[in-house]
Amino acid sequence: MRIIRTIAEVRDAVRAARDTGASVGLVPTMGAFHEGHLSLIRRARAASDLVVVSLFVNPTQFGANEDLGAYPRDEAGDAALAEAEGADILFAPAVEEIYPDGFATTIHVAGLTEVLDGASRGTHHFDGVATVVTKLFGIVRPDVAYFGQKDAQQVLVVRRVVRDLDLDVRIEACPIVREADGLAMSSRNVYLDPAARQQAAALNRALDAASALHQHGERQSEPILDAVRRVLAEAGIAPEYIELRDADDLHEITRVENDALLAVAARVGAARLIDNHILRGDA
Ligand code: PAF
Repeated sequence: MRIIRTIAEVRDAVRAARDTGASVGLVPTMGAFHEGHLSLIRRARAASDLVVVSLFVNPTQFGANEDLGAYPRDEAGDAALAEAEGADILFAPAVEEIYPDGFATTIHVAGLTEVLDGASRGTHHFDGVATVVTKLFGIVRPDVAYFGQKDAQQVLVVRRVVRDLDLDVRIEACPIVREADGLAMSSRNVYLDPAARQQAAALNRALDAASALHQHGERQSEPILDAVRRVLAEAGIAPEYIELRDADDLHEITRVENDALLAVAARVGAARLIDNHILRGDA
């Protein structure tokens, strides 16, 4: 596996592979790999001839009071894991390579980015994500790019960018990978002390309770949301949001008819965590 730091070099490497007819898979990441990331790399490895993993802690998607400085970083460990999964290239650029002096363009997706994490973190968050992902697509020009479903809103935002800007890349959303007690894997789980780590398992327990209610035929939003609220309250977690929205365009719903995104965000100990379940619609 090659570690590449410049746009010019990664372009040359991808072009050389393409000239031989190779297909290209991209796994965009911010590093601090866990099983969730590795599952994306495996998916890419199984489907593409050339697998590029990008490792870039993107400053523009962090707010002023967020954890950019503290975000876990372990490039050597990540490189070893990516190589063991068969990645061909780890593209790990410096901030100045991605945002040189004079950088002035922002991709903003209206409509999907003002709610859920956009409301909690500010719309700059998804502007930063959309901008860096569009750049990565322009640099690597992958056939397929792999994203985790834990960031369900991010997946929708990226899909919309691809659709609206006619980008020639297929987006694959991969299932959430969970710890044995159901906690969704996240690089931010390292912020949890043992007590908070135990408490954090309530997020998925709460979503499970709501999913069970839905499976037993409940279609109204309020009882479903109440199930989540109850389990979180029992665990002493004050949610930032618990919302049920249409899984395609994120409009708020009062009844589950089409596929719905049940999404939760909460601070648990020192970590801000998000999780979600999809409730399948009858339509
Ligand atoms: O999901 C992430 O790790 C990041 O938001 C991404 C997609 C790599 C963009 O910086």
